[in-house]
Amino acid sequence: MNQSKSKRELYDQLAAQLASLLAGERDLIANAANFSSLIFHSLPDLNWAGFYFAKDGELVLGPFQGPPACVRIKIGQGVCGAGAAKFETVIVPNVHEFPGHIACDSASNSEIVIPLMKHLRLLGVFDLDSPKLARFDQEDAAGLEQLVRVLMSSVS
Ligand code: SME
Repeated sequence: MNQSKSKRELYDQLAAQLASLLAGERDLIANAANFSSLIFHSLPDLNWAGFYFAKDGELVLGPFQGPPACVRIKIGQGVCGAGAAKFETVIVPNVHEFPGHIACDSASNSEIVIPLMKHLRLLGVFDLDSPKLARFDQEDAAGLEQLVRVLMSSVS
């Protein structure tokens, strides 16, 4: 089995697990908390996985797994703020080369941010950090976007 197939399979398996984990619950915080735990404990080489929610024009820390993180991020600032400003997934192979990167944990070397969109509105972002350089690729982007869609359809 090649590496790319196994990554695709892992995301498909996670999407199925997530659908049953979130079934019957529509609370965003509860589902986001279980979402971050499932991802953090299922994907290799992560040191942080969690949410920032859009509130009053900035991003505010939500449920996460990993060490304590910065609480407020301006839209457009850092990797999270870039994903929120563009409404699109941002992959950063080396955070030390990203202008304005916000270093919450010195162990982080690469990062991916997926915006959370519901009814064409930005609800926030899901952020993953890794101690490995270039940990995230287009397949991770597609897989994580699929998982975020499951989360978004679980909430009102
Ligand atoms: N590195 C992020 C900040 C959030 S932490 O990684 C948890 C950024 O540049 O937006």
